[in-house]
Amino acid sequence: MRLDKFLADMGVGTRSEIKKEIKAGRVAVDGTQIKDPGFKVPSDAAVTYCGIPVAYEEFEYFMLNKPAGVISASEDSREETVIDLIDEQKRKDLFPVGRLDRDTEGLLLITNDGELAHRLLSPKHHVDKTYYAKLAEIADDSDVTLFREGLILTDGLKCLPAELEILDPPDEVLITIREGKFHQIKRMFQSVGNEVLYLKRLSMGPLELDPDLPSGQYRRLTGEEIASLKHI
Ligand code: URA
Repeated sequence: MRLDKFLADMGVGTRSEIKKEIKAGRVAVDGTQIKDPGFKVPSDAAVTYCGIPVAYEEFEYFMLNKPAGVISASEDSREETVIDLIDEQKRKDLFPVGRLDRDTEGLLLITNDGELAHRLLSPKHHVDKTYYAKLAEIADDSDVTLFREGLILTDGLKCLPAELEILDPPDEVLITIREGKFHQIKRMFQSVGNEVLYLKRLSMGPLELDPDLPSGQYRRLTGEEIASLKHI
C-alpha cells in the first residue's frame, strides 16, 4: 500500500496534507525517513509520524449504546447519525450494521467490515436479536404462543418464530427475533393489539450490550467479541 494512503486510512490527515508532511520528512518507515508519498509500505513495516507509531487497522469495530433521536445512517445532511457519535474513528468508511428506528435505543455495531456485516444481516443466517420492550398493554401466554408459532403481520407478512418472555410487571417483555423486517417488533405487537412504547436492543448474536456503556457512548469491541462474531 502507498505510504500516503496508509496514513490517510488511519486518519492522520487528508491525502494532500499527508503528502506535505511526508515531503517535510515527518514520516519514517522502519526507522528510515521516507519522503516519497508513493513509497510502497511492506506489510509488516513499522510506520511513524512525528516519531509516533501509526499501526494500520483495516477494520474497526465499535459497540454503540444508541440513544433515541439519532438515525441509523452513515451520513445525513440535516440529522445527527450514529456515525457522528463515534469521534475517535480512524476509518472514514464506517457504517451501522443494520438499522434501529430513530426512537429505539441500545446495541448497534458500527464497523467498516462489509463481509462481517453481510453475514450478520443475511436472512440465511437467522442471527438472534434480543430486545427489551415496554408495552402499552400487558402481554400474556397467548402472545407467547402466537409469537412462537410465527406471527402474521397486519399486511400479511409471516414472521419466523420469535421468543417472548414476559417480565414482572407484565407490560415489560424480552423478545428475540431472528430476522430484521422494517419496524418488525412494533408491527408484531401491533398485530396482537398491543403497542411498543419503548424499545432497546440488548444483543445481536453473541454480542451483548455492555451494561457499563451509558446511552450515547461507545467503545471498541474486544478481540474476543470480534472473534465471536466471526464464528457465526
Ligand atoms: N423492531 C422495531 O420495530 N424497531 C427497531 O428499531 C428494531 C426492531
